[in-house]
Amino acid sequence: MSRIAYVNGRYVPQSDASISIEDRGYQFGDGIYEVIHIHDGRFVDTELHLARLARSLREIAIPAPMDNAALLVVLREVVRRNRVHEGIVYMQITRGVARRDHAFPLGIKPSLVITARHGNPFPRDIAAWTATAITLPDIRWGRCDIKTVNLLPNCLAKQKAREAGAYEAILIDASGMITEGSSTTVWAVDANGVLRTRHLDDHILPGCTRAALGGLLRDNDIAFEERGLSELEFRAAREVFLTSATSFVKPIVSVDGVAVADGKPGPVTTRLFALFARHADGAGHNAASGGPVLRPRGESDQTRP
Ligand code: PDD
Repeated sequence: MSRIAYVNGRYVPQSDASISIEDRGYQFGDGIYEVIHIHDGRFVDTELHLARLARSLREIAIPAPMDNAALLVVLREVVRRNRVHEGIVYMQITRGVARRDHAFPLGIKPSLVITARHGNPFPRDIAAWTATAITLPDIRWGRCDIKTVNLLPNCLAKQKAREAGAYEAILIDASGMITEGSSTTVWAVDANGVLRTRHLDDHILPGCTRAALGGLLRDNDIAFEERGLSELEFRAAREVFLTSATSFVKPIVSVDGVAVADGKPGPVTTRLFALFARHADGAGHNAASGGPVLRPRGESDQTRP
């Protein structure tokens, strides 16, 4: 079955999908994106992702191509047509197509592309979900809070991690503070046992998984601080883990080749891994996700509109 993409109003086989060579996303990286996790045929944390999408658009003055209700219909349709039960949906909105000129062109329509793809089943065994990281200088721009498609520094960092045999590159700013991973939020349990992640500012993406986990921490009376870690504090951490829409809660067991504590997922990470799994199973499916996109596995969805 060929994958189906939504491209500016049409559902097309992905192999036939195309955008203009003068799309500003292609020429300038003038666009934003979102990635939503699909678990058991449902979107996880939809409202958080749609709110961040709206914020990213606002911050770079791209008008929304459609309202959230319409967008959800399209997202669900792409997932349905691709029969994705476990995976991700990716959406990208660029300023649109115009003769190349750095300044914003007037009167153009934003481009919207949505794709969905299968992923691995949600992890249940934390021991099989551990990973390693390296550290690198954060060489990105001053508005990393906007989820733009300008990801070259992130790609360079991830590539260095791959070449080092690591899962993630954890970035350190010029003042020696941990910012985030190349595509993840960084958390640590510091040497005093305090669970911490950096405060939100212009230098990191406000992660939706972070926000969801923050809610779970509050609901479960688990203390944490939104306070950045210095490199020294980070290297002395008892536990390190990452969060994202595709990493969920991911234990980091070594950094730059040095084991974090005993090199096994710690008790806090283990608890939060389980809490987030429960969230993804049920509580993450809020009103906006509107129930399953697909029928349970095995049942036909031919009859669905
Ligand atoms: N990345 N920081 C950065 C730089 C990211 O790119 C991401 C997400 C996150 C975590 O955000 P969230 O919890 O909302 O996924 C933090 C996505 C998954 C990606 O680019 O594929």
